[in-house]
Amino acid sequence: MILVTGGAGFIGGNFVLGWLSNANAEEVINLDSLTYAGNLETLASLQNDDRHIFVKGSIGDAELVTRLLNQYQPRAILHFAAESHVDRSIHGPADFIQTNIVGTFNLLECARNYWSNLAPEKKQAFRFLHVSTDEVYGTLESKEPAFKETNPYEPNSPYAASKAASDHLVRAWFHTYGLPVITTNCSNNYGPYQFPEKLIPLVIHHALHNKELPIYGDGQQVRDWLFVEDHCLAIQRVLEKGRLGETYNIGGWNEKANIDVVKTICAMLDSIQPKGNGKSYAEQITFVKDRPGHDRRYAIDASKIEKELAWKPLETFESGIRKTIEWYLTHQQWVSGVTSGSYRDWVSKQYSAHGK
Ligand code: NAD
Ligand code: DAU
Repeated sequence: MILVTGGAGFIGGNFVLGWLSNANAEEVINLDSLTYAGNLETLASLQNDDRHIFVKGSIGDAELVTRLLNQYQPRAILHFAAESHVDRSIHGPADFIQTNIVGTFNLLECARNYWSNLAPEKKQAFRFLHVSTDEVYGTLESKEPAFKETNPYEPNSPYAASKAASDHLVRAWFHTYGLPVITTNCSNNYGPYQFPEKLIPLVIHHALHNKELPIYGDGQQVRDWLFVEDHCLAIQRVLEKGRLGETYNIGGWNEKANIDVVKTICAMLDSIQPKGNGKSYAEQITFVKDRPGHDRRYAIDASKIEKELAWKPLETFESGIRKTIEWYLTHQQWVSGVTSGSYRDWVSKQYSAHGK
């Protein structure tokens, strides 16, 4: 079996659902502390599936992690758990240091103790796959080449710095202790089950509730978008075939300016669910104060994973964004479940700080 951390979150949840959609899949122990970003509703379809063992707990709890490893003897750890939202890291970095750095350190130590006592065959087969981000590389000028695995680390937000630190720990545990690790650095994901604090689900949610669609600064910041299921398939491929101690950049060659992403969503909503008053959702677009330290451009050079592991994204941005919008339109109950009181408090705190 495999141990997944953060499997009630956006990418971890999609990963677990995708993994268990294969009838022959190994069991999953899913360790998640259920922060505001973790949601058991995402895993509701697995309620009667014995192959899914959900454990509510923290990666920072050494006793719990050690007990789970010894009891279930997983052949791999897939580490998704993190604090993941840049804006929250600006308001309060402490949780990011605690979860992303100290939590990863704890997980590495538990994994090392477990792995070093395995029988030789199991020891050789074991993997620690660390899921990370392109934000560790910092920002690009408009004409600079996309991030390669060899780019220097230049993180600019507390979130990015905490992920960079965790990547360094993972690397050191490989070189110093021989722990069989692989790190993936992926670009911006979008798709089903994403918490509506991130740009794409926030814009869909606000559009449908006749609220302003907040664009930071001039809206010309560029992100490289990847449909979440393509990211999950890439992670499976890296787990199967990735070389130990390596890092793999994952991305969809889909660079888009934020304003264009938002206009695309508005145009699709105009055709799928037109407003009663005949107006376009684009009229709700509002430019607000920029994010401090806002990275101008991210772009992933995915040639290493494409060449070495023969992975390629299946979705284009156009097909992925349509699937995403359709998913949100048909899963309004999931959205209502996560946009409770604490969500509303966050939106009012965040967007009063970004006042026009
Ligand atoms: P998310 O915020 O949606 O989910 C994070 C999950 O981790 C939640 O379920 C949360 O409850 C859980 N968690 C947080 N602290 C925990 C702890 N101490 N112990 C156990 N569980 C804990 O995040 P996401 O967008 O799904 O991102 C998953 C991973 O992928 C993160 O490591 C993130 O840095 C990385 N990543 C995200 C993106 C993206 O675009 N979302 C892109 C590249 C990489
Ligand atoms: O690049 C990978 C990273 O992508 C992941 O590591 C992070 O976990 C994930 O949150 C994401 O970070 P971003 O900061 O790029 O994502 P976010 O959805 O917050 O913002 C995307 C862009 O849209 C960014 O340039 C900021 C802008 N934005 C965002 C929000 C929430 C707005 O203009 N308005 C908004 O209201």
